Amino acid sequence: MYFVFLNPQGNFDHLDSYWTMHPDFGGQLVYVKEIASALALLGHKVDIITRKFVDSKLSGFEDTFDYYDETKNPRIVRIECGPPSFLNKEELWSYLPEWVDRIIHFFKKQNHFPDFVTGHYGDGGYSAVLLKQKTGIPFSFTGHSLGAQKLEKMSVSKNQYLDIDEKFHFTSRIHAERLTIENADIIFVSTEQERDEQYVHPLYIDKSSKPFSETRFVIAPPGANTKTFSEIETLNDPLFYSKFDQILTRDISTNRLSFPYLVLASRLDSKKNHLGLLKAYALDKSLQAKCNIAISVRGIDNALIDYSSAKPDEREILDQMMLVIKTSHLEGMVSFISVNSQNELASIYRYLAKKKSIFVLTSLYEPFGLAPIEAMSSGLPAVVTKNGGPKDVLEESNIKFGVLVDPFDEIDMAKGIHEMFKNYELYKTLGKERVNQKYTWFATAKTYLSAFENIIQNNAIHHQNQVFSDFLGLENTKIKILEFLNSCEVKK
Ligand code: F6P
Repeated sequence: MYFVFLNPQGNFDHLDSYWTMHPDFGGQLVYVKEIASALALLGHKVDIITRKFVDSKLSGFEDTFDYYDETKNPRIVRIECGPPSFLNKEELWSYLPEWVDRIIHFFKKQNHFPDFVTGHYGDGGYSAVLLKQKTGIPFSFTGHSLGAQKLEKMSVSKNQYLDIDEKFHFTSRIHAERLTIENADIIFVSTEQERDEQYVHPLYIDKSSKPFSETRFVIAPPGANTKTFSEIETLNDPLFYSKFDQILTRDISTNRLSFPYLVLASRLDSKKNHLGLLKAYALDKSLQAKCNIAISVRGIDNALIDYSSAKPDEREILDQMMLVIKTSHLEGMVSFISVNSQNELASIYRYLAKKKSIFVLTSLYEPFGLAPIEAMSSGLPAVVTKNGGPKDVLEESNIKFGVLVDPFDEIDMAKGIHEMFKNYELYKTLGKERVNQKYTWFATAKTYLSAFENIIQNNAIHHQNQVFSDFLGLENTKIKILEFLNSCEVKK
């Protein structure tokens, strides 16, 4: 069969050149690439359709076609969408109808239309709705992150909304998400929690929408690339290891070099809560006596000395972290390691696993949490936020595969780390087994495939059920959002 992934903000290139360097180059790229590649290996033709652009700071997105390997499957197809330069995902909404028309033209030209389309994030979902409206091709939606939750987390008041909307375009996003949820043939979520907490939000379910029904959802947890994220060393490891040796010798006091590390590998983003973990460490002397901290940063050679090249938001977080390091006298206990690719990340996991280190992710909320799975697959047991998806990954039927902690509670974070040190080998073994049994990309791709096949078999029924309502209802969506924000304020 022929499957198409729609990712207008996708920014896919065969070298994965800019992963994690910008919020629009995050986990969605890994997710789509891995499922597309696994579907291709299962014998299907797969295209990832994304945006073509020319930008002097972000090269590699100029050609129409790009391929990850010589099989040329999956194929990356880039199609113009709006102005020729790079645009943040928030700026894409108004260009999506013309993007979809160009995609239809592309299908016509190659004389091959897909059997099924899968739309990612609100922008890919909305594009899939438009495509279905014009061609009848059924589609699935994978939200990755939904606007209503982001809006709530930002604690926006009704009065601030219009200004915030100028920058984040929540009205367009939530409107697109509503249309997508309404029209999708199936919705993929990573966890039950994502389905039950996010999709029942009053901005998605109201009198004018389809009632919430579990049967419209399929739970497809993401997987780790167990080839890259493995304990088995690669030919590149010795080179990477000597770089890590040098960096740790530079940052860590000599008498502490053999200590285990708490490994923080997420993007420098306030919601990832690097600061909370650092404060927990600063408050607990017995933790300091046991371990150091290793923080991965992208593209910054020696953050302890100079991080002027970081983006303003990142600089702010680094400023706060440096202040904690200074005031709590943590010099010689914290290292900042520049890690520039997925292979290097897997290598540092292996390197630090030999020192009996722990992967720590204390995000305030984590929709799914692929990073702990990758770390566990590479031999690092994980201490992870209890808020969001990681709960499903690390606990099932009263068995714990890692330790969950409260990211708002410094004492609880430290307690969780102590518990991990006490049961290190057990959690390491359980964590690895968990990944191999449940979290591989092949398992995810097979779940996608059987959902696609189901819908394709019942296609006639779905054609009759087409909805496509409310295309012009942007203003209505804005009113709903303002009413919702108002009701939140009244409750307070
Ligand atoms: O990469 C993961 C991802 O969820 C993307 O889908 C999206 O670009 C970003 O992170 C989150 O976006 P937002 O903060 O706008 O919800």
